[in-house]
Amino acid sequence: MACRLAVVKLGGGVITDKSAPERVDYESLEKAALQLAGYRGGGGLLVLVHGGGSFGHVEVARISREKGRLDSRDSSRVQEVMLKLALTVIRVLEEKGLNPSLHPPHTLCMNSLPETCNTSIIKRDLEEGLTPVTYGDAIPENGETRIISGDDLAAWIAVALKADCLVYIIREPGVLDEKGEVIPILSNLNQLKVRQTKWDDVTGGILRKVKTALEASKTIDNIIITNTEHLLEALERKRVGTKVVHM
Ligand SMILES: Nc1ncnc2c1ncn2[C@@H]1O[C@H](COP(=O)(O)OP(=O)(O)OP(=O)(O)O)[C@@H](O)[C@H]1O
Ligand SMILES: [Mg+2]
Repeated sequence: MACRLAVVKLGGGVITDKSAPERVDYESLEKAALQLAGYRGGGGLLVLVHGGGSFGHVEVARISREKGRLDSRDSSRVQEVMLKLALTVIRVLEEKGLNPSLHPPHTLCMNSLPETCNTSIIKRDLEEGLTPVTYGDAIPENGETRIISGDDLAAWIAVALKADCLVYIIREPGVLDEKGEVIPILSNLNQLKVRQTKWDDVTGGILRKVKTALEASKTIDNIIITNTEHLLEALERKRVGTKVVHM
C-alpha cells in the first residue's frame, strides 16, 4: 500500500548542481516532479520540502567567508536566492499538475527551530487539494542570520502532521557504508561512514540528516533515504534505499 501522507525532502544537491553557484539541475528536478505527480495521481497526499544546494548553501558560505559572520540583515540576500530556487521548483511542479503552494519559512516560522513553524497553513493546503512546498531558509534571529534546515523542517512537518512516510532524496541510492554499499536498515549513527564531499553544506550534510531521521523514527514508521531513481517506489512503500528505524 502506498503512503497516505508523505513528506518528501528533495535534496538541494539533487535539484541543483552544487559545483556552480545558482545552477538548477532541471533534468533531475523534472524526474523527481514526474514521480511525485505519479504518487499524487494515485491519491496520496504530499508535502514537499527542498534544500538549498548551490543557491542557499553557497550564498551563506560566501557571505561568511567575506564578513566572518552573518548579521540579521544578511538574511535578505539568502532569502532572495532561496526564493529564486523555490520559484523554479514550483514552476516545474505546476507543469506536472501538482498545484504547488509555496510557503517561505521566514514567513512561516518565528525562528530557526522548526517547532516555531506554523503547520496549520500546511494542513489547510492539504485539505484544499494543494501541494504545500517549503524549503531550507535564512531567518533573522537576535541580530544574527540563522539557517533553518530543510531536513529538520521536513521531519518536524512529518511529526506534526502525523505523516506515515518521510522520504529524503539525495544523490546516492541510500546511506552508504564504508564499502560504498547501501545500508538497507539503519538504526544507529555508527553505521554511517561520512564521505568527503567537495561542496558547502551549512546544515551538517548527511550526518545531521541521519541524526534527524533517527529522531523522527521514534514516531514515524516509514523513513526512507534514497535517490530520485527510487522516489516513486519509496512512496509506494517498496523496499528501496535505506530505511531508518528506531530500535
Ligand atoms: N555515507 C554516505 N552515504 C550517503 N551519502 C553521503 C555519505 N557520505 C557523504 N554523503 C553525501 O551526502 C549527500 C547528502 O547530504 P547533503 O546535505 O550534502 O545533500 P542534500 O540533502 O542533497 O542537499 P541540501 O542540504 O542542499 O538539501 C549525498 O548526496 C552524498 O554526496
Ligand atoms: Mg544538507
